[in-house]
Amino acid sequence: MQKHNQLFYFFTIHDAARFKRHLAWDIAPVVASVAQLSQVHRQPLVALNIAFSHAGLLALGVTEDLGDSVFAGGQAADAVQSFNEDTASWVPQFVGDAVHGVILLASDATHLIDRQVFHLEATFGASMSKVYSLPAAIRPGDQAGHEMFGFLDGISQPAIQQLHKTPLPGQNVIDAGVIITGATGDVVDTKDNVPVIRPGWAVGGSFLAFRQLKQLVPEFNQYLLQNAPAGDGSLQARADLMGARMVGRWKSGAPVDLAPAADDPELGADPQRNNNFTYEHEGFNLSTDQSHCPFSAHTRKTRPRADLTSLNISDKPNSIMRSGIPYGQEVTPEEEASGTTIHERGLAFVAYQSQLAKGFQFLQQSWANNETFPPKKTPAEIGFDPIIGQAADGKARLVAGVDPNNTSATLSMPQFVISRGGEYFFSPPISALRGHLSGVDQVVHEHPGRHRFH
Ligand code: HEM
Ligand SMILES: *[C@@H]1O[C@H](CO)[C@@H](O)[C@H](O)[C@H]1NC(C)=O
Ligand SMILES: *[C@@H]1O[C@H](CO)[C@@H](O)[C@H](O)[C@H]1NC(C)=O
Ligand SMILES: *[C@@H]1O[C@H](CO)[C@@H](O)[C@H](O)[C@H]1NC(C)=O
Ligand SMILES: *[C@@H]1O[C@H](CO)[C@@H](O)[C@H](O)[C@H]1NC(C)=O
Ligand SMILES: *[C@@H]1O[C@H](CO)[C@@H](O)[C@H](O)[C@H]1NC(C)=O
Ligand SMILES: *[C@@H]1O[C@H](CO)[C@@H](O)[C@H](O)[C@H]1NC(C)=O
Repeated sequence: MQKHNQLFYFFTIHDAARFKRHLAWDIAPVVASVAQLSQVHRQPLVALNIAFSHAGLLALGVTEDLGDSVFAGGQAADAVQSFNEDTASWVPQFVGDAVHGVILLASDATHLIDRQVFHLEATFGASMSKVYSLPAAIRPGDQAGHEMFGFLDGISQPAIQQLHKTPLPGQNVIDAGVIITGATGDVVDTKDNVPVIRPGWAVGGSFLAFRQLKQLVPEFNQYLLQNAPAGDGSLQARADLMGARMVGRWKSGAPVDLAPAADDPELGADPQRNNNFTYEHEGFNLSTDQSHCPFSAHTRKTRPRADLTSLNISDKPNSIMRSGIPYGQEVTPEEEASGTTIHERGLAFVAYQSQLAKGFQFLQQSWANNETFPPKKTPAEIGFDPIIGQAADGKARLVAGVDPNNTSATLSMPQFVISRGGEYFFSPPISALRGHLSGVDQVVHEHPGRHRFH
């Protein structure tokens, strides 16, 4: 059900009037319904989709406030300010205002994508041009569905209450408005704490956070071997345990909270069980016990489950719908042997949310990069998310809890995921592609969630 290949095609607009005509007549009719987005628990299938940056909307003459200050500021400014990022490591095209939008193309064959790009470029002519593109693909063989470090991805996605009939056990059931602009539950801008007001045409869309996240895979593997916890098992088994504790899941997808000692591929593959956990257990002290899962583990940092609900804090407003896909080639024997990356590879990270300040930005800044999150733990120093946490320039990236033999011990870890930058986009409802964004004003307002997410 998932398309094998994707292309992220970043463009800049040169001739707004001509671009708008093609948007209305050539793009809008073929934009795939994002219906898939709400049904997936792997990546959604989007044959063709288009989304605009703030600079892109301005280029189209759209100056209305979409009610998202993080979007309006752009990712480069936000990353420097909120994540201590240095744009020197960025793909240069993501710095500045040249990226006006992204066309997401997905197909089971790269030649079909190439053909579609050829067709698009011929259609749009000089009204737009490519700034940058990133090809991405599902990994080969038994690694299909796994990200580049080797862990099965896309297991835990929220279920939208208004759309899903039967959520899976443990699935996070959220209001549509957490993901879809203007839908039930899309209420207050966390940044400015004001009620969110969306222009009519922008109701039924979603903000898309794109990040090109480079993964240092041979370095990660070597680090696990060199820092494997003491124990009776083989070196590889102990390294695997450490990797699983850093992620919160084993490579098969089995959550360490349910399988703390060894991988359980049957559990990992069972959607009825692989998300059915909270980090809480009977006779377990939730504020001290890291025997199953470290407080710092990637899945726990990005969805704390009982760590917050036990304090009567809901983590639902801070949910995202992820649809990332790996990019770059497989690790070569030479890279594996030397423990050094030669060919760039990583995750083309995509997250949808109705408010960036509650979604991607919040997860990265307030949870992953926050050394004292989750709260009310002993020891209180949790450290960074070992996968995506980013320390301030020159500061050690401390991570606690991963050593199963001493969960008070702290490691100063190198960074294995390096941001190459990205952009924030608004993925408009199809009606806006045909109407407002093409300069054709429609009286009909999109019913939240009806067209794209049903
Ligand atoms: C290269 C970077 C990344 C890698 C290798 C990675 C890997 C993974 C893996 C293996 C899982 C477990 C599978 C699953 O539960 O679906 C996961 C879950 C998740 N990740 Fe990431 N991830 C990366 C970046 C990010 C970023 C940047 C964010 C957000 C700021 C994020 C947010 C999440 C969330 C919300 C979950 C689900 C947690 C849950 O519901 O239990 N990830 N990730
Ligand atoms: C470390 O803990 C594991 C179980 O997690 C145990 O098998 C092993 O013996 C322990 N090793 C040491 C040195 O304490
Ligand atoms: C989910 O977990 C709960 C609590 O541990 C358990 O009672 C229930 O049987 C589990 N559901 C499935 C389908 O395994
Ligand atoms: C859990 O541990 C904390 C910190 O040591 C302690 O204050 C608390 O009383 C413990 N809770 C339970 C239920 O034992
Ligand atoms: C959470 O709310 C419940 C019900 O209102 C209450 O009994 C409990 O004490 C609260 N817990 C905390 C940690 O505030
Ligand atoms: C970090 O987490 C703590 C508690 O867990 C919270 O009080 C604090 O506001 C967070 N910091 C940021 C920058 O969000
Ligand atoms: C565990 O780690 C802490 C912090 O580094 C250290 O003080 C303590 O001695 C360690 N405990 C054991 C049993 O090694």
